[in-house]
Amino acid sequence: MEEIDWKNLSFGYMRTDYNVRCYYRNGQWGKLEICSEETINLHMAAVCLHYGQEAFEGLKAYRGKDGKIRVFRPEENAARLQSTCRGILMPEVPTEMFVDAVKMVVKANERFIPPYESGATLYIRPLLIGISPQVGVHPSTDYMFVIFVTPVGPYFKGGFATNPYVIIRDYDRSAPLGTGIYKVGGNYAASLKANSIAHELGYSCEFYLDAKEKKYMDECGAANFFGIKNNTYVTPKSTSILPSITNKSLMQLAEDLGMKVERRQIPEEELATFEEAGACGTAAVISPISKIDDLETKQSFVISKDGKPGPICTKLYNMLRGIQYGDEPDIHHWVTFVE
Ligand code: PLP
Ligand code: COI
Repeated sequence: MEEIDWKNLSFGYMRTDYNVRCYYRNGQWGKLEICSEETINLHMAAVCLHYGQEAFEGLKAYRGKDGKIRVFRPEENAARLQSTCRGILMPEVPTEMFVDAVKMVVKANERFIPPYESGATLYIRPLLIGISPQVGVHPSTDYMFVIFVTPVGPYFKGGFATNPYVIIRDYDRSAPLGTGIYKVGGNYAASLKANSIAHELGYSCEFYLDAKEKKYMDECGAANFFGIKNNTYVTPKSTSILPSITNKSLMQLAEDLGMKVERRQIPEEELATFEEAGACGTAAVISPISKIDDLETKQSFVISKDGKPGPICTKLYNMLRGIQYGDEPDIHHWVTFVE
């Protein structure tokens, strides 16, 4: 095998040895199969291709200083996938099957798990697609569940470093009663244009306001938002954002630190009052925010005065990473070992 330059990996796809697949046919799930083929053979009329009946997840495996392999909260990803399944009428993947598939695919690709302290991790991507050929708009009858893995570096530039974000009011990622709370591909298709504008303008990522009133902070492209002030962790309550497992974990860690946690609507003007802020997610981990500009109103909310991550973001980041890598005690039982 050619040497992998772990320290300089981007957040991209690299071929690994195996993926794990399972089919749903005749109203039931089959057995997990291990596969070395990178491609899938799909009917051109498959429902997922035309009507977007597909869902995905994202989680990571970490190699600790002790050499052990840990996966962070896979049951939460299973639960969120089940919620997505209910949302777009797909059969639910049982938690046990999901977690077994995660362990199987990680173990089979063990040589691709980046070393401790390389800055890279093994990204795990479960995917569920409706595969029946159909032209009418109806749920598929058959489904394919597949999980692949790929080693990745940081999602946002510089890893744990501050980055600028931009509110783009001309686009909505999802509607208030739409599919924003589910992890379906259509939400990401809807974000491509705003995301590309943000990048062209030199921002790390686009920010969405709530689609109905354009008043409250929703989320960034592929991460939730949080702000810190007066020893309080504040994060949006919205019917159009993805319930982030990282955010849920950070809320708990903030409480562990003795902070107050508020999940509520955050009016845009409140950005001026935050001492620190960040984007959080599996890919983003915590990406501290330097400033948030509003493209239309031309307001600029500078969050980090010195351009450095603030003390609470840093503390939360270290606590989270500590648990994920096994450097800190896993007091909330978030870690699953792959043996
Ligand atoms: N929001 C969106 C739109 C996402 O795609 C993600 C990534 O999965 C998140 C938030 C963060 O969620 P999590 O922390 O579960 O990865
Ligand atoms: C995540 O898993 O954090 C993501 O949302 C990944 C992103 C590339 C869609």
